[in-house]
Parts: sequence; C-alpha cells; structure tokens
Amino acid sequence: MPERTIAFRVNGEPVGVEAHPMTRLLDVLREHLHLTGTKEGCGEGECGACAVLMNGALVNSCLVPAIQAAGTSIVTIEALAGAGELDAVQRAFIDEGGAQCGICTPGMVLAARALLERYPHPTDEQIREGLAGNLCRCTGYMRIFAAVKAAAVR
Ligand code: FES
Ligand code: FES
Repeated sequence: MPERTIAFRVNGEPVGVEAHPMTRLLDVLREHLHLTGTKEGCGEGECGACAVLMNGALVNSCLVPAIQAAGTSIVTIEALAGAGELDAVQRAFIDEGGAQCGICTPGMVLAARALLERYPHPTDEQIREGLAGNLCRCTGYMRIFAAVKAAAVR
C-alpha cells in the first residue's frame, strides 16, 4: 500500500501527513510532527505511555494506524500547558510528587484529564479504574492518585 496524505487535527491545528496508512499514530506524532511529549513504552498497548485523546477518548497511539486518525481531532500532552500556564493536572502532579522518571507522565496526565471530564470529583475507585491502563514503574501510584484527587478540587 503506498503512502498517502492523512488529514486530521492535532491540538486544534489541521495537519496533513504523508504516511503509509498503517504507520502507527505514535510515530506520526513523534516523527512526522515532532510532538515528542507522547512516549513509547511497550509498543504493544499494555502501558499507556503513548496515550493521547482521539475525539475526546483516551487511546494508545501505538495501536492506532494513521489511517484511523483521518478526520479526527487528536490532543497530545503538548496542548495542555497553554500560554506558559500548566494545566491543573500537571500542576498537581508536580505538587504531589506524581512524576519521577516521567516516561508514564504524559499518558497519566491525559488519562487523568479524560477521567476528570467524565467524573469531575472522582472517587478513589474511579481514579484507580480511570488510570488502570497506565503503568508506572517508579511511583507506586499513590502520589499519582493523590495528584488526580488534588486536581479535581482546583
Ligand atoms: S507504548 Fe503504547 S501502550 Fe505502551
Ligand atoms: S514516573 Fe517513571 S514510569 Fe511513572
């Protein structure tokens, strides 16, 4: 299958990318568009490091073929800190010590954002469930959960 132009929106801006339809959205974001805030962990849909929002839904971009992104609206971590101001979730991760090595953090923050859209004041169980697809090898999770709780009341 030849390359083709795949058009969609990223962080509010229209983009057109020349890519093979089966190129991973993760690679389109990182390599074609240089949005390297989206991380690769497992590359197999298991860790959530590559999570982005597609039409508002959390997806693992390592599992999404570029062609599936055509016509959609993608939000990456780069969109969250507007005009030099951190998003409330990002601020809470800093304040609560929810990030260590940082590899999981962009995906965690976007998962938290998606969760808070659904449940502005989530219970502990909803937080655990909302972040269940995102793995962290550093923090032991408690500080991440605390950060999401803190962000919910800001
Ligand atoms: S890199 Fe995509 S889920 Fe791990
Ligand atoms: S902070 Fe290192 S994997 Fe989560």
